[in-house]
Amino acid sequence: MAIKHFLQFNDLNRDEFEHVFQRAHWIKNQFKAYQQYWPLQDRTLVMIFEKASTRTRLSFEAGMQQLGGSAIYLNTRDSQLGRGEPVEDAAQVISRMSDIVMIRTFEQEIIERFAANSRVPVINGLTNEYHPCQIMADIFTYIEHRGSIKGKTVAWIGDSNNVCNTWLQAAEVLDFNVHVSTPPGYEVEPERANLYGTDHFEVFADPMDAAEGADLVTTDVWTSMGFEAENEERMRDFADWQVDADMMRVAAKDALFMHCLPAHRGEEVSADVIDGKQSVVWDEAENRLHTQKALMEYLLLGKV
Ligand code: CP
Ligand code: NVA
Repeated sequence: MAIKHFLQFNDLNRDEFEHVFQRAHWIKNQFKAYQQYWPLQDRTLVMIFEKASTRTRLSFEAGMQQLGGSAIYLNTRDSQLGRGEPVEDAAQVISRMSDIVMIRTFEQEIIERFAANSRVPVINGLTNEYHPCQIMADIFTYIEHRGSIKGKTVAWIGDSNNVCNTWLQAAEVLDFNVHVSTPPGYEVEPERANLYGTDHFEVFADPMDAAEGADLVTTDVWTSMGFEAENEERMRDFADWQVDADMMRVAAKDALFMHCLPAHRGEEVSADVIDGKQSVVWDEAENRLHTQKALMEYLLLGKV
């Protein structure tokens, strides 16, 4: 089987996601029933982090161990990666000693260069541009709660960041719609989101209009990692882009609320929404584990 990477959401097609979601469901059930499932025995995952993480590290490390393999954590501070070793050289070496690699870094270009020099599959654990593992887990969570996402409307309220770009790509792959509302100056850039067209998203100046009738309302921090210098300015610019109870009221009656976490209550989301009945953020976080286990199984073993 040719090496398959997961660097952007659209690296997998609809059939492949259907397979991964079906496997994630099965793997989750096995895990909940304390059934051992070790298809990746003797396989090694290397995780490279150039930015902080709780969920991504934990879900990949625990996930690989639960599949019978092992995981090694590298960061920029303690490895030669922070001392200017070329990405291409690091990829050659790391991929000769491991079976699969997950990277969290800055520019998408870094992970693309790594993958081009890797002998093993590479997974994007978040870049400035994308966060495909997050949206894979989010859509699996939506399906668990409400069934197919095809034809549904997702409202994205806030920054046109890595998570937003990935929702836009996912809408093209899985055929749903995204209603986006960002403050002026933070608009979606279709080239940065690597979209095929504009059929699957619509832009709204007023966040209330974006949320109206939506099946899922979602948001993320106002300041992503790497953009901390803009924090003060962003606090002012995003003040009207908070998902609160009024906004949830205009969404569909059975609308869900999601947030990739970590969240800032009182900024991008009010406490009553994230801690309220429509919120599925804990399921969403847990499903990072199950969907990424299914993804690693697929990238290493194909359709089992
Ligand atoms: N949602 C997410 O990726 O969380 P971490 O930054 O904690 O990995
Ligand atoms: N957009 C956020 C997501 C964190 C999981 C960031 O990039 O910091």
